[in-house]
Amino acid sequence: MSVKFAVLGHGVVGSGVVELFYKNKKSIEKRAGTEMDIKYILDLRDFPDSPYHDKFTKDFNDILNDDEVTSVAECMGGVEPAFTFVKACLEKGKSVSTSNKELVAEKGDILLAAAKAHNCNFFFEASVGGAIPIIRPLHRCLAANDINKVAGILNGTTNFILTKMYNDNMSFADALKLAQELGYAEKDPTADVEGHDACRKICIISSLVFGKHVYPKYVYTKGISEVDLADVAAADILGHAIKLIASVRRLDDGRILPCVMPMLIPHENIMAGVSDVFNSVLVYGDGIDQAMFYGRGAGKLPTASAVLGDVIESVKHKITVFSQSWDSSDDNSFIAPVEELSTRWYFRVPADCDAVGEGAYTDDNGTSFITEEVLTFTQAADKAKALNALAYIPVMD
Ligand code: HSE
Repeated sequence: MSVKFAVLGHGVVGSGVVELFYKNKKSIEKRAGTEMDIKYILDLRDFPDSPYHDKFTKDFNDILNDDEVTSVAECMGGVEPAFTFVKACLEKGKSVSTSNKELVAEKGDILLAAAKAHNCNFFFEASVGGAIPIIRPLHRCLAANDINKVAGILNGTTNFILTKMYNDNMSFADALKLAQELGYAEKDPTADVEGHDACRKICIISSLVFGKHVYPKYVYTKGISEVDLADVAAADILGHAIKLIASVRRLDDGRILPCVMPMLIPHENIMAGVSDVFNSVLVYGDGIDQAMFYGRGAGKLPTASAVLGDVIESVKHKITVFSQSWDSSDDNSFIAPVEELSTRWYFRVPADCDAVGEGAYTDDNGTSFITEEVLTFTQAADKAKALNALAYIPVMD
């Protein structure tokens, strides 16, 4: 018997799922332990030249009402209509594998509960870190650990832009255009540049690790639009790279502090060397100490690889294997405000500022230095004001 699945959306990721599936169909079937085929591809656009044009439908009900379709790959992006479609599929007992981080970050609790109630799977490995296996390792391989911190470069587009700007002297606009051409950026690249995409991903990780739904609206998020190349260059001379870091840590009182912001990473930290579209995630646990995950964080086939891995898993395990879900949360009292973030800070101040200590670096753009003392977010803002700082950025510890 051949297992039939459907692909919702034929954009960058959806078309990658179809391409990779047919490229590796034989080995995929071997790994799934059964013959498999794509029965439908849902998209409102026409693809008359596609070799799979006979599989296209514009009507989601064709998929929903076809009992032969037992697994669905959702690659449409956005909350609606993806949420309505995915929920309906799960309620019919069809497992869903998604690359849609916005959907999981906003509605993951509801969809996981629906999957559990209807004895099927809701998988979302592709929603964080593109090709990198991180969701299943966090939930399964590292399940014995008390995980107290996760930090990562979780947006390929911004990492690509920062790399091109610094290494190749490319303008921000050109680097962004290239990222769009390569299929890395979101439909609205503001979500990448302003950190919203990384925020959704750290929300998913936080919910999974700490067991309570963390909504993006409660997470302090600052993107790279204000990162000045003068700071990238000065940070480099001070022994650091600037990266957009999404992180979450558990505080001593049990609350968690998730945030997204550009940070200085010491060159000796392996994360400083993560360039281009690559993502990396560092997980800190009491059993493992640290584990790092690294790979392509965006793009057609890398993301399709993660989606198809989930589809294969859902075909192999027809009953629920993703037994961990997270609780819904109506209040945000378990989330600490960013004002409590305590770390060392990088400052760039006017060159005539005399309140600067040893190790400072001065050029035409001002004087740059890293504090020895740890300051909270609020204390750093006060210091920046007092020094008329041109820029101030936290350092990742
Ligand atoms: N726009 C996202 C990124 C795509 O650049 O990381 C992968 O989630």
